[in-house]
Amino acid sequence: CTLAPRYILFTAAYLMQYNNIMLFKFLAHSAFCLVLLIFIVIEERFLRRLSNHFPDDPEFEEIIQRAEQAIENGVFPERISQGSSGSYFVKDPKGKIIGVFKPKSEEPYGHLNPKWTKYFHKLCCPCCFGRGCLVPNQGYLSEAAASLVDSKLGLGVVPKTKVVFLSSETFHYNAIDRAKSRGKKYALEKVPKVGRRFHRVGLPLKAGSFQLFVEGYREADYWLRRFEAEPLPENIRKQLQSQFERLVVLDYIIRNTDRGNDNWLIKYEKPGDGDAEWPENCSDSCIKIAAIDNGLAVPFKHPDEWRAYPFHWAWLPQAKVAFSQETRDLVLARISDMNFVQDLCEDLYEMFKTDKGFDRTMFERQMSVMRGQVLNLTQALKDGKSPIQLVQMPRVVVERSATGSQGRVVTLGSAFTQTFHCKRPFFTSW
Ligand SMILES: Nc1ncnc2c1ncn2[C@@H]1O[C@H](COP(=O)(O)OP(=O)(O)OP(=O)(O)O)[C@@H](O)[C@H]1O
Ligand SMILES: [Mg+2]
Repeated sequence: CTLAPRYILFTAAYLMQYNNIMLFKFLAHSAFCLVLLIFIVIEERFLRRLSNHFPDDPEFEEIIQRAEQAIENGVFPERISQGSSGSYFVKDPKGKIIGVFKPKSEEPYGHLNPKWTKYFHKLCCPCCFGRGCLVPNQGYLSEAAASLVDSKLGLGVVPKTKVVFLSSETFHYNAIDRAKSRGKKYALEKVPKVGRRFHRVGLPLKAGSFQLFVEGYREADYWLRRFEAEPLPENIRKQLQSQFERLVVLDYIIRNTDRGNDNWLIKYEKPGDGDAEWPENCSDSCIKIAAIDNGLAVPFKHPDEWRAYPFHWAWLPQAKVAFSQETRDLVLARISDMNFVQDLCEDLYEMFKTDKGFDRTMFERQMSVMRGQVLNLTQALKDGKSPIQLVQMPRVVVERSATGSQGRVVTLGSAFTQTFHCKRPFFTSW
């Protein structure tokens, strides 16, 4: 690295003196190769640390292996055209969709986002489009965090999501990445002894969230409209209510800022032809919710700038019904235990610390908001409140130790401090 600028300077001085075009071409080319070599060495050091091993989840590991095999065989992930960022349907070797991959570098504010509209937003008016309460470019971690919270609480509404590393021709790469890959292939051909030492020869791996694809689901908006016109029988309505409450618990804990009715899916298979009656008796759950697109959650502060980012489910009739005993039995014992919450924070720490831009202070703030949400939810469940009453509760932050922050302060034992977040966004909902 220290040699490269000197080399370029020396070359420029020499050329100014002699104006030798051929030599200029030769030296410019070798300077380019030198820079590429430096990039390759840096990348190789970084690549050693990337792997898709999930020793505690062999089933998931097998799915990822199938995805990798498909890519090797030329069955490439396909970009989801409607998304605001680079999100891809990942296939198995037979071409069946098995997951949704969202690379960090192609997130709305990632440096390789393929949509020019997002680039324009970032450049011209980030305050109107960005979310000031979120740590930028950590959407993939938020996706995986939602899945972790879901599984720790036994909610079963988030399709399993983990951080994985994939590469594909169809992902968005810059010219340097593509040149590096070509350079390595060239080295492997010409100097196999050197080439064999590379950890990867193809395009660089991208870190991102990989969510299992769920089949037979449609956007909630579609089903909710249909249920309005054709009301569900009582037993299925209750199942839907129970699933809905699980979605509320998830969203509230991770403080999702993007839960429109297009970001959760419902699966409901009406038996027989279209005119048949809804089934009266289902032994298992006939209706299922899938909470997808959880990339805009886990904020480091409550929204307090322009927009309030409300939970759109709060306007549904289901939100007016008090939480059921079933939901209380499922989550209350866990979330009212500070040790469980601390365990959850530690698991999230293990996940978040792998990010290149990880900042411990920011992470602590994210966990303070989450603990506040857990505290409110616990109280709401104990008091028999409904989701709409839950979202109207004063917003709380629970920090690890007392700091000089503003607001009413109540000490929770010796380790935590509860603060009410009083500043409200300009366009407020509640
Ligand atoms: N796990 C999944 N299983 C099945 N379908 C999915 C899954 N995840 C996403 N989809 C489908 O892909 C579409 C886009 O997904 P998603 O909303 O997560 O992407 P996005 O890039 O964040 O898009 P946007 O910015 O528009 O919200 C969804 O509307 C849904 O139809
Ligand atoms: Mg979406």
